[in-house]
Amino acid sequence: MATRAKAQDTAGEASPGEQIAVLVVHGPNLNLLGEREPEVYGRTRLADIDKELKNLGRELEMKVETFQSNSEGGIVDRIQQARGKCDVLLINPGAYTHTSVAIRDAISAVNIPVIEVHLSNVYRREPFRHHSTIADIAHGRIMGFGAESYSLALRAARTVAEESRRRAG
Ligand code: DQA
Repeated sequence: MATRAKAQDTAGEASPGEQIAVLVVHGPNLNLLGEREPEVYGRTRLADIDKELKNLGRELEMKVETFQSNSEGGIVDRIQQARGKCDVLLINPGAYTHTSVAIRDAISAVNIPVIEVHLSNVYRREPFRHHSTIADIAHGRIMGFGAESYSLALRAARTVAEESRRRAG
């Protein structure tokens, strides 16, 4: 089967018939999930979230890749690599949510629909967490359900991908 990259030449365009591909990006400090402030973020480890997403992906017939980086540049690089190869990007930029113009620009550059994910409900927390640099360019945002935020987002990603493939014809 041709890869998404071969099957299309425009970033973000649909490739009908191919399995929906989703990239999940986790930002800084999320590698410490399970140990880090469990009263805020829960006790589920990142490896378990990733495993659950891959299992759910198989169930929903979607290919799920996951990636974590503590560095802004690493996240920008990974988003750029997804250009033309993935239908939907799920991203929890961690603290970069509130500061990163570079991650916002990378998302705009690759033209892939984005679902912003957070474990905690940032609006119940400190005011500096209320601003997101990507909220207005995200297709949607899911937050406040702990690890389940990711599986809810993955289910939503299926609909988003199907819509965007339909639009692209
Ligand atoms: C977070 C919320 C951010 O404010 C925080 O910096 C994180 C995690 C969340 O998933 O709730 O690292 O993105």
